Amino acid sequence: MNYLAPSILAADFCELGAQLDIIKKAGVPYIHVDVMDGMFVPSISFGMPVLNCVRKRTELFLDVHMMVERPERYVDEFMRLGADGITIHVEACGCINDTFARIRALGGRCGIALNPETPVSRIFPYLDAADMALVMTVRPGFGGQSYIPECLDKIRAVRAEISRRGLNTDVEIDGGVRLCNVKENLEAGANVIVAGSAVFQGDIAKNVKDFLNIMNGA
Ligand code: DX5
Ligand code: ZN
Repeated sequence: MNYLAPSILAADFCELGAQLDIIKKAGVPYIHVDVMDGMFVPSISFGMPVLNCVRKRTELFLDVHMMVERPERYVDEFMRLGADGITIHVEACGCINDTFARIRALGGRCGIALNPETPVSRIFPYLDAADMALVMTVRPGFGGQSYIPECLDKIRAVRAEISRRGLNTDVEIDGGVRLCNVKENLEAGANVIVAGSAVFQGDIAKNVKDFLNIMNGA
């Protein structure tokens, strides 16, 4: 099953509620919530208050992507505020198994993410415990960057390892995804597609419809 996950990092924050409504009406299942701490990545995005507001506005699945050093410090609070899934970076956390256990105990789904320069083998020890593997297709930190083509091979490698183990772990991609490159990513094995600027720039409802048509094979 393929899922589109629009990243609200690219939303107009003065219109966030209305834009969430448009996304929901257009048939999107996930909202991708990019939390940046100014340490793991250079930029700072938003955190608890925004997650809290988004949760009150929508019942869609909230896919929280923590670009945060030592994310284990925030898991309890993010789950309390309404995250449905939390993805942590393999480069940022020294206690991944314990953090997954905590997320799961609080009823959340767990994701493990890796940056473009990190070898895929770094996430292999966590694939059995994870619900999702997130292959970053840009260097994390900013929306609107260009897709890094070398990441296609990493998506293939992660999907191959998941299949080899007989798991049904989702493979998410994030960064630089556009209507023109989504198909090759699906073919490489991605099934959760994050898109920020390609959804929120211009006509949101039309952008979603165009993505869903490609993703559903129309
Ligand atoms: C990048 C974030 C992405 C970003 C994607 O660090 O993790 O989720 O919002 O934005 P686009 O789709 O514009 O590259
Ligand atoms: Zn993200």
